[in-house]
Amino acid sequence: MSDAQLDPGVGEVLVSEEKLHERVVELGREIASDYEGRDLLLIGVLKGAVFFMADLMRELPLPCEVDFMAISSYGSATDSSGVVRILKDLDINIEERHVLIVEDIIDSGLTLSYLMRNFRSRAPASLEVCALLVKESAQKVRKSVRYVGFEIPDRFVIGYGLDFAERFRNLPYVAVLDDSLLPEGM
Ligand code: IMP
Ligand code: MG
Repeated sequence: MSDAQLDPGVGEVLVSEEKLHERVVELGREIASDYEGRDLLLIGVLKGAVFFMADLMRELPLPCEVDFMAISSYGSATDSSGVVRILKDLDINIEERHVLIVEDIIDSGLTLSYLMRNFRSRAPASLEVCALLVKESAQKVRKSVRYVGFEIPDRFVIGYGLDFAERFRNLPYVAVLDDSLLPEGM
């Protein structure tokens, strides 16, 4: 049975499980070599980044720690309004730490801009961003994302941590959300 039959919301597969794995291994190598000799603190943005971060971290032969931040942006399920609120703050003090923000996807870039501003004010030793997916619409913030998994078109995607109304995070690949589930006008 195909996944489309299992779940009618799953559209075209944009990034296969195999490609995800290959790219995570490459990113791990790049990050490991850039951070050689430094202790790294990975900060994941809940909930979507958890899946990517867990895989990425296992490709890093470095001393590293993890922490998580939960934020909510007011808006509908497929549109972020840009108003960001902290639901769960960090447990670890990031002052003088080498921080790498791990994000699932950058769309408008508003969430990321907010996070960078917020973290910078806490005086980390360094602050970089690793995003699994960056949409074409994210041009404004693209330059502040040091590590990019894949650049994708401006379509609503699900899987490998990404949800639509909390569903589909468990798909092992990244697919487009089927048109039939998209709200009017998207
Ligand atoms: P931004 O603030 O517009 O860059 O949106 C970032 C957040 O919106 C991501 O961390 C996701 O949680 C969510 N998001 C944006 N685009 C998608 C998508 O295509 N699928 C699922 N979630 C998305
Ligand atoms: Mg997110």
